[in-house]
Amino acid sequence: MFVEKLSSMFSKLLHAQPKYITAPVMPAAAQQLPPDRLPRHVAIIMDGNGRWAQKRGLPRSAGHAAGTEALRDIIRASDDWGIEALSLYAFSTENWARSKEEVNALMGLLLKYFASEIDELDRKNVRILILGDVDGLPGPQREAVCSAMERTKDNTGLKLNIALNYGGRAELTRAAARLAQKCASGELRPDDIDQAALENELYTAGLPDVDLLIRTSGEMRLSNFLPWQTTYAEMIFDSVLWPDYDRAEYLRNLRAYASRDRRFGGVKADSAGSEADEAGAAGQNTEEIS
Ligand code: IPE
Ligand code: IPE
Ligand code: MG
Repeated sequence: MFVEKLSSMFSKLLHAQPKYITAPVMPAAAQQLPPDRLPRHVAIIMDGNGRWAQKRGLPRSAGHAAGTEALRDIIRASDDWGIEALSLYAFSTENWARSKEEVNALMGLLLKYFASEIDELDRKNVRILILGDVDGLPGPQREAVCSAMERTKDNTGLKLNIALNYGGRAELTRAAARLAQKCASGELRPDDIDQAALENELYTAGLPDVDLLIRTSGEMRLSNFLPWQTTYAEMIFDSVLWPDYDRAEYLRNLRAYASRDRRFGGVKADSAGSEADEAGAAGQNTEEIS
């Protein structure tokens, strides 16, 4: 009885027409995104600012300034379309290796960005979290990001994570050290360390895994971004340079994601079904196979 009910529920679900949400400012044909195929967590490596500027004979800092416009658009679009979490790679632990001039320009833009956006983000119920070593930032930047996190910490809308002075290896090393400290203080036993315990020590503790990772500018590498969290992420490498990236391109990427078949090491539900049918037809008792 119960099994029959369950199978009728599944077949209803399978044959139901997908409902669509619409993105208000897009042309009708591009609007549809099936809500059950929206990624919960999108991560973006915003790359290509330098090349964008170079192509125009401008200093690299002009590319970074233009990149903040794309940033605004993509944050707003994520909020409009009901994405749960958005993680943006803004400055890596390796980016300190750039010229003093460029690092200063980036740090200056960071301050400007928080000053100009925080009111709107807070009004939109966005929760801001910085991923990375905040203590390693210069004083004014540290204060700006800490105050943004504090001000928005109880907000329940888009979870906006900005990776600043972030490195994936540094994050994992820090998590290992924190677990070791807990063991040393007797709070935890080595046997208690499992994946959840490690995850709990990451900057992203409590967030869902990354479903979709987008990198702009055509580069095809992670560059030390969220190695743990992207283990099963779908990846899209988009050739558009970050300052030219906009919500139309973002929507194309989300639609491409919606058409992907994610298996997580298993097999597709329908092919699993046909294997079971074949086994059943061959007279095997499939119910005993767990
Ligand atoms: C990404 O653009 C922004 C940061 C790394 C801060 P880049 O500055 O890396 O641009 P390209 O890769 O040199 O074009
Ligand atoms: C990754 O881009 C870091 C950010 C986008 C903030 P990079 O431009 O620094 O990466 P590589 O050097 O090309 O790997
Ligand atoms: Mg780059």
